[in-house]
Amino acid sequence: MASQSIVDVDARHSLDKLAASKANRKAVATWLFFTFSMIVEMFGIGAYVQNDNAGLSIMAWQPVSGIIPPLTHHEWERMFALYKTIPQYRLLNSHMTLAGFKAIFWPEWIHRLWGRLLGLDFGIPLFWFWWTGRLERRLRPWLFLLLVLGLVQGVIGWWMVASGFQPGLTEVAVWRLSIHYCFATALAIAVFVTALVVLKPASERLAPPEAARYRVARGFAVASIIAICIAIFAGTFLSGLHAYNVDNTFPLMNGRWMPTGYASLHPFWRNWFENKVAAQWNHRVVGTAAAVIVISSVVTAIRANVPPRARDAFLVTGGLLILQYILGVTTLVSRILDIGVVHQMNAVLLLAAAIWAWFELRGQRPA
Ligand code: HEM
Repeated sequence: MASQSIVDVDARHSLDKLAASKANRKAVATWLFFTFSMIVEMFGIGAYVQNDNAGLSIMAWQPVSGIIPPLTHHEWERMFALYKTIPQYRLLNSHMTLAGFKAIFWPEWIHRLWGRLLGLDFGIPLFWFWWTGRLERRLRPWLFLLLVLGLVQGVIGWWMVASGFQPGLTEVAVWRLSIHYCFATALAIAVFVTALVVLKPASERLAPPEAARYRVARGFAVASIIAICIAIFAGTFLSGLHAYNVDNTFPLMNGRWMPTGYASLHPFWRNWFENKVAAQWNHRVVGTAAAVIVISSVVTAIRANVPPRARDAFLVTGGLLILQYILGVTTLVSRILDIGVVHQMNAVLLLAAAIWAWFELRGQRPA
């Protein structure tokens, strides 16, 4: 009996060793980075759906059977008939043909299909790594929680879509869109940070005296992360209200720094979430503030002579920030929403890069 438990303990130790080995950690991190890249693509598909006004085309919530699109003419007619019952069809698309319906059906179907693929991409390797003992113990509950939160994101997606079926409405509620986007961003970042943690264990972080030397640069990285998050949050209202349709000039809005009509709604706070002009101005201002903070963080990091990997991370963040700004302004002045799709995807990459920069400057905990 005693010898059996010694064998069990030995087996557990060798499995723990395998899980913590460099090669295994690389495999787990690769899977997580791949998942992160799939989420970034999901942002692009979601943005396309929104720009195409396609999000309300599938009236049914069928997490499993919905994977099969209509296969016969009769099925297509049935789906189209369902769509005809919602206000968006009656108020905006009453002369839409079946071909027109198919054009808005497919993007939304692909969006949902991608969500299901993401679930498989995350769930199957999670199960396999766990089953074969290749997952460090500390990661197991956390990754399982991420899987559950991924399913929650699907439910939030449906909750958002359902808001667009209400009488008199032709699109989803802006707040629900914002929550859907922000939750997706949080999930993407959680997966990304987990991959970083797996790849670089605490023992490989900077020694405390070195970490102390880079305190200011690390502080700037944190400020960048906060500023980018605020810009993303503000961006969801600009996008949700289609506020890119007004005042398409930059840097002035119709010749003014402060647009007229900023405070037209009462009480005042409603303007931030319901007024197109205010939503656009807010996003410009917080986006520009984020740009100034990110550029300052890059300059600070270079002047502080941070280690090479951290320097790379700050430079990547700076590059993505410049790209983000150019994409935002170009979307606004050109009204080409396909550029906005890239702007939305790049926002997540930018946030991830800023977090990477902060991560590279983290120190070991004092013993
Ligand atoms: C750090 C800087 C910025 C970040 C992180 C950022 C982030 C975002 C995000 C996340 C969205 C989409 C949200 C959603 O769809 O729910 C968005 C939309 C948008 N942003 Fe930015 N943005 C930044 C700067 C700017 C700037 C400087 C401008 C132009 C002055 C701009 C113009 C736009 C426009 C026109 C949209 C709507 C595009 C669309 O819906 O397809 N952004 N932004």
